[in-house]
Amino acid sequence: MPGPVAGPVSVEWRGAFTNDEVDALHAEAFAHDPTGEDWHGRLTRLSLGWVLARDDEGLVGFVNVAWDGGAHAFVLDTAVAVRARGGGLGARLVAAAREHAAAAGCAWLHVDFEDALRGFYLDACGFTPTAAGLVRLR
Ligand SMILES: CC(C)(COP(=O)(O)OP(=O)(O)OC[C@H]1O[C@@H](n2cnc3c(N)ncnc32)[C@H](O)[C@@H]1OP(=O)(O)O)[C@@H](O)C(=O)NCCC(=O)NCCS
Repeated sequence: MPGPVAGPVSVEWRGAFTNDEVDALHAEAFAHDPTGEDWHGRLTRLSLGWVLARDDEGLVGFVNVAWDGGAHAFVLDTAVAVRARGGGLGARLVAAAREHAAAAGCAWLHVDFEDALRGFYLDACGFTPTAAGLVRLR
């Protein structure tokens, strides 16, 4: 069941945000305590951009689009507030990330994810499965 989203949801590329609201949404989505992260510093310094979704009550969606400075962009931190899930918002956020990465001249948009999210990224968002590697550093 979709949660009770308050009014229409707007989706914006590189919109304004506070560190606290992104911190709170990330903590809710990934089930951790708020960290006090300087999201503004990180995103403006290191990312191609970010996607924000808001309803009448505040931030309900976020995607961080990291970048290698060239052809490759990377979807990270995709997060939809629990009350806004199941209505297509996550796919809409990723579609916006894809559109803006393409407009910025990127040739490839990457993502990695756990098996449970195959339906989301492959079916709903249109990614093609590919081999990838990962090593834990700490
Ligand atoms: C994953 C997440 C962003 C999806 O947001 P959402 O707005 O609910 O997604 P959508 O409504 O656009 O889903 C589209 C389709 O993807 C699939 N899907 C969505 N969430 C899924 C999940 N958690 N597991 C498996 N499939 C999922 C469904 O098939 C859905 O289609 P349906 O509406 O016909 O059922 C959201 O559940 C979330 O924030 N999860 C916690 C954080 C997280 O795991 N982020 C991903 C990090 S890689």
